[in-house]
Amino acid sequence: MGRKLLWALLVAGLGLTSGARADDYPTHPITIIVPFAAGGPSDAMARVLAERMRISLGQPLVVENVTGAGGSIGVARAVQSPPDGYTISFGHLGTHVANGAVYKLKYDLVADIEPVVLLPSNPMIVVSKNAVPATSLKELIEWLKSRPSPPTAGTAGAGSGSHIAGVYFESVSGIKLQYVPYRGTAPALNDLIAGQIDLIVDQTSNSIAQVRAGTIRAYAITDSKRLASAPGIPTAEEAGLKGFNMTLWSGLWVPKGTPKEIVAKLNAAAVEALNDPAVRKQLEGQGLEMTPKDQLTPEALGARQKAEIAKWWPIIKAANIKVD
Ligand code: MLT
Repeated sequence: MGRKLLWALLVAGLGLTSGARADDYPTHPITIIVPFAAGGPSDAMARVLAERMRISLGQPLVVENVTGAGGSIGVARAVQSPPDGYTISFGHLGTHVANGAVYKLKYDLVADIEPVVLLPSNPMIVVSKNAVPATSLKELIEWLKSRPSPPTAGTAGAGSGSHIAGVYFESVSGIKLQYVPYRGTAPALNDLIAGQIDLIVDQTSNSIAQVRAGTIRAYAITDSKRLASAPGIPTAEEAGLKGFNMTLWSGLWVPKGTPKEIVAKLNAAAVEALNDPAVRKQLEGQGLEMTPKDQLTPEALGARQKAEIAKWWPIIKAANIKVD
């Protein structure tokens, strides 16, 4: 018997109503499942939020990293949890959009989860190990094309943000890459710094500190305007590559069937966190763009996710990225 069915029977047997559970929620710690490695961009954002949401909710929010298969193992764990507000799924454009086109998932990315809040976004950034002899995006593309075998690109697994961005980079530039999957872009970045892989098309929030420290080299960001926090890095278009636009947004979801009042409490706590000047300063310092205030509703996240599924699934299917 599935965990969800078991939970539903238990709730019915005890005569609990969702309203009764929602009234005093939360009474014990909440788990946020981050589907990638500790120390990476998803983990970093989740921990900043968890710390501030604890103050509003009066209970700790514990981050659990459940990694593998482009984030789909962690999302599956969250989807299959009881719909009681004590398990939250942290994810993004990769896990909650792209994965549906890449894997045969045992869950439906729209029907089996409830959106809670749309989180900050950041453009992707093309970064290489320092040993690559290129000083501009144009030179990098020439160097990548001149290699006898495809250069290596680190990703957080098939269907992750860094993988989709890498495939996008291939299609707009005509290069060919060989992907090296990790459990997140934190370990991929360590290998890039050590020179074990050639490049990553990474979330800016993950790479920017290393770019500033000079341990890796940045070529361009996939946005229409330069980042306020790193104005020296050109957009892909300014660097001569048209059509390479991608913003990786994140979000929080809970299992389908979670009482509306609990979703509202979680949304309110997340909104309070995102409006806190100290949290904003921390996230903006990582190169993240804060969610516009009118987009901080569960409905806005649901609409964004559906629109991105309509946009990305045909692109991913055309690129024939599949993992069975
Ligand atoms: C991570 O936290 O490692 C990332 O979100 C991975 C990715 O999707 O590229």
